[in-house]
Amino acid sequence: METLDMIKSRKAIRHYTGQISDEQLQTLILAANAGPVGMGTYTDYRLTAIQDPKILSQMNGIYDASTVLVISVQDPGKMEYVSAGAIAQNIELAAENEGIGSNFNMASIASIPSGVIPDGFDPVFAVTLGLTDQHFAPRTIPNDRIKTNIVK
Ligand SMILES: Cc1cc2nc3c(=O)[nH]c(=O)nc-3n(C[C@H](O)[C@H](O)[C@H](O)COP(=O)(O)O)c2cc1C
Repeated sequence: METLDMIKSRKAIRHYTGQISDEQLQTLILAANAGPVGMGTYTDYRLTAIQDPKILSQMNGIYDASTVLVISVQDPGKMEYVSAGAIAQNIELAAENEGIGSNFNMASIASIPSGVIPDGFDPVFAVTLGLTDQHFAPRTIPNDRIKTNIVK
């Protein structure tokens, strides 16, 4: 799909019909790694792909996702939160490209059981993932949904 059509087609999917494949997971991890992070300090970040049903059952607000890809950071500040968002956006677009359902998720962060995220890292943002029967088609997005000032 053409890039702008992909961007217009991206949408939150909150119901999933099954588990993504290991190959698809690797594609999403690659997309995350292609994201920009402030100062280029990639070693400050960690990805944790949670697929263990026992752990997922303890997490709030993940709907029926069978994979949650969590972005964690050492000493998170504003720059790290922004970078985590950029990483998550890459994951969402790559998921859409694969026909996978996904959604940004902050609701689950506080409920990730201890021991799941590597020591020294704080989870800041997540993406819920799973197969979907929904289709992606360009949406009509109003140009003024976010009010804009053009200064020139
Ligand atoms: C920072 C951030 C946090 C979000 N957290 C959640 C969440 O915890 N649960 C949820 O269902 N959606 C969450 N969303 C998804 C938004 O609700 C959704 O993107 C927004 O309503 C626009 O819908 P769309 O993605 O279909 O365009 C989050 C989005 C962002 C950017």
